[in-house]
Amino acid sequence: MPKDRAFDHPVSSEITPRQVVLDRRQLMRGAAALAAVTALPLRAQPARPGKLAPLPAAKTLLAGAQTMDKPTPYADATSYNNFYEFGTDKADPARAAGTLKTRPWTVVVEGEVRKPGTWDIEALLKLSAMEERVYRLRCVEGWSMVIPWVGYSLAELVKRVEPTGNAKFVQFVTLADRAQMPGLRSAVLDWPYVEGLRLDEALHPLTMLAFGMYGEVLPNQNGAPLRLVVPWKYGFKSGKSIVRIRFLERQPQTSWEAAAPSEYGFYSNVNPQVDHPRWSQASERRIGEDGLFAKKRPTLMFNGYEAQVGQLYAGMDLKRFF
Ligand code: MTE
Repeated sequence: MPKDRAFDHPVSSEITPRQVVLDRRQLMRGAAALAAVTALPLRAQPARPGKLAPLPAAKTLLAGAQTMDKPTPYADATSYNNFYEFGTDKADPARAAGTLKTRPWTVVVEGEVRKPGTWDIEALLKLSAMEERVYRLRCVEGWSMVIPWVGYSLAELVKRVEPTGNAKFVQFVTLADRAQMPGLRSAVLDWPYVEGLRLDEALHPLTMLAFGMYGEVLPNQNGAPLRLVVPWKYGFKSGKSIVRIRFLERQPQTSWEAAAPSEYGFYSNVNPQVDHPRWSQASERRIGEDGLFAKKRPTLMFNGYEAQVGQLYAGMDLKRFF
């Protein structure tokens, strides 16, 4: 909205026409009625979109982890993405990620572990029972989604590889292959895209290794064949298309810290009180309900998972460790 010297006034394109207001009221009445119906039984699993191979979950949710928010429509969650290896525009990954080859796929586990090795994706798929967990995903750019992920706690894998006493951090390295990823020609980030967690964060049951969403395998643009989901942190901590997991004694630098250290910290916990220099984090726009008139939602501390993860940061200055 342009600022006038004397007062702020809406530009004509921002004034809501009367018919739109009426239509919107109608819509909200309908939505309220629908919410009353759908809120009754807790849906076991959302209807599958029928686009990709099914990936059924043996169990739904982990107690306390489930959000009651309505999942974002599949079409929105798969067409508005950040996956810079396929371009920086939100529409690029859906358009360009068809070239990603998700088989064969292996994940190397190395560093401070008693059992280093190379895991085949098929072995990882069988490592633990698949669970469906509906998590909020909050992007640092100010939007959020609600996604029913399919996978299991990363802790299942971590325990199996037996970190040594020296392991304090875990680094996640994602695929960087110029032949498959046109975005690598641009130097927006140092490739490969790398992320990291403290070992206790990696072991937290909410931290998920996801192989699917909406009851099917992950679409390429969402990080096939496997990605991380850390629901209390900004979305960029959830690396896509992981190929290497490294256990380290020292805190590793992440791609975003290397690119802009004053903007992106290692922790990147969702925190409405600590703004990004370019984006306020106090509220957010929910993708899929972003009509011109959709209200912004207040951002929740730790993205709504404070009861589960707050203890991890007891005594820490969250402004300093942003
Ligand atoms: N992983 C890789 N390898 N490359 C990326 O560019 N973008 C991150 C994260 N993981 C990214 C990535 C960002 S900024 C966000 S918000 C989430 O992925 C988006 O996940 P989604 O597209 O499934 O919503």
